[in-house]
Amino acid sequence: MRIVYVVGTRPNFVKTAPVIAALRARLPQGRHALVHTGQHYDRLMSDVFLEELGVPAPDYMLEVGSGSHAQQTARVMERLEPVLTEERPDLVLVPGDVNSTMAAAVTAAKLGIPIGHIEAGLRSFDRTMPEELNRIVTDQLSDHLFVHSPEANDNLHAEGVPAERIHLVGNTMIDTLVALEGRFRAAGAARRLGVEPGAYVLVTLHRPALVDGPLLRQAIGQLAALAREMPVVFPVHPRTRKTMEALDPSHPGLLLSEPLGYLDFLSLLADAGAVLTDSGGIQEETTYLGIPCFTLRDNTERPITIEAGTNTLLGLDPAAIASIPARLAERRSPPEPPPLWDGHASARIADVLA
Ligand code: UD1
Repeated sequence: MRIVYVVGTRPNFVKTAPVIAALRARLPQGRHALVHTGQHYDRLMSDVFLEELGVPAPDYMLEVGSGSHAQQTARVMERLEPVLTEERPDLVLVPGDVNSTMAAAVTAAKLGIPIGHIEAGLRSFDRTMPEELNRIVTDQLSDHLFVHSPEANDNLHAEGVPAERIHLVGNTMIDTLVALEGRFRAAGAARRLGVEPGAYVLVTLHRPALVDGPLLRQAIGQLAALAREMPVVFPVHPRTRKTMEALDPSHPGLLLSEPLGYLDFLSLLADAGAVLTDSGGIQEETTYLGIPCFTLRDNTERPITIEAGTNTLLGLDPAAIASIPARLAERRSPPEPPPLWDGHASARIADVLA
C-alpha cells in the first residue's frame, strides 16, 4: 500500500503525526510519503512542531507560502499534481480544513486517487468562514471520512454521504496530546513565564473575522482590562501580529510572546485557569484537559465541546471578554472527555485502512 500524507499548517501536523506513526507500524512494507505544502513556513509555526511531534522529515516540500486563497490553493494543486503522478499512491490522506487540505483533495480526486479525510464532518454552517468551504469540498470528494464525534456523523448523513464511507474513530489531535502528556506536564512553562499555575488566562486569536479588522483593537482593550484581574498570556499568531503592528494598540499588562512550541503551549494550556480562543483545536484540547474555554466566535463546528461543559461561545463581540471572571466563578467540576477521545483514534484509522 502506498500512502501520501499532505500537511501544511500547524494544526495539520498535530492531527496527522499519530496517524503516520500508526500506519507505518501497521504497514511497515508500505510506502509512506509526506508532503509539506509550506502554507505555514516560519520555524516557530512549522519546524519546531514537526521536531517535537517526532514527524520524519517531509519527502516533498512544496513551499507555497502565503497568498490569497486562490493563489495558495492553486499553488498547492500545481505543485502537488506531479508528486502524485510520480508517487501513484493508493490513498492520499489529508487532515482538517485548511486551504492545503482542500487543494490536495481536489488534486487527488481529479487524478482518480482515493482520499481519506481526518476530522471529517465538522460544520459551523457559516459559509463566510474559509474553513467551512474547505470542509464541504474535502468531505464531498473523500472516500474514507474519519469522524471524531456523533454530530460530524449526522452532518455527513444529512449531506448524503453514504454510511459505508464514514468511520467514527475518535480524535487524532487528542492522540498526540495523550502521547505528549508526560513531557508537557513536566515542561513548567507557566513558572518560566512568571505566572502561577491555575491563575492566568491563556489567549490565542488568529481568525480573519477577528484579527484582520477593527475587532482586534477592541479585543486588546478588553484583554488589558482583564489583565488587571488576572495575568493574561498571549502567544501571537503571525497573522495577528501583522494587524497588531499596523494598529499599534497599547497593551498594558498583557504577556505577549512569539508563537510557542507545542510542548510549551500544551503546558500553558493544561495549567491555565481559563482559555480565550477562536481556534478549533484548542476548543477540543481544553475539553480533553477539563479547562474552561471561552470561544470568541458566533458559532462553532465543534458543538461537542459545548455539550461537554468546558466550552462557552462568547460571540464575536470582544465586549463579552469582560464577563469571563464572573462566568469562571459559576463553573462546575470538570467533565469527562467525549467517547473515543482516548489516545487510540489513529490506531482505529489504521484498522480501517489496513
Ligand atoms: C490557517 C488556516 C486556519 C487555521 C490556521 C492555523 C486556511 C484558510 N486557514 O490560517 O484554518 O486555523 O492556519 O494557524 O487555510 N504567516 C507567517 N508565517 C507562517 C504562516 C503565516 O508569517 O508561517 C502569515 C502570513 O503573513 C499570512 C498570514 O500569516 O499571510 C496568514 O497565514 P495563512 O496560511 O494564510 O492562514 P492562517 O491565518 O495561518
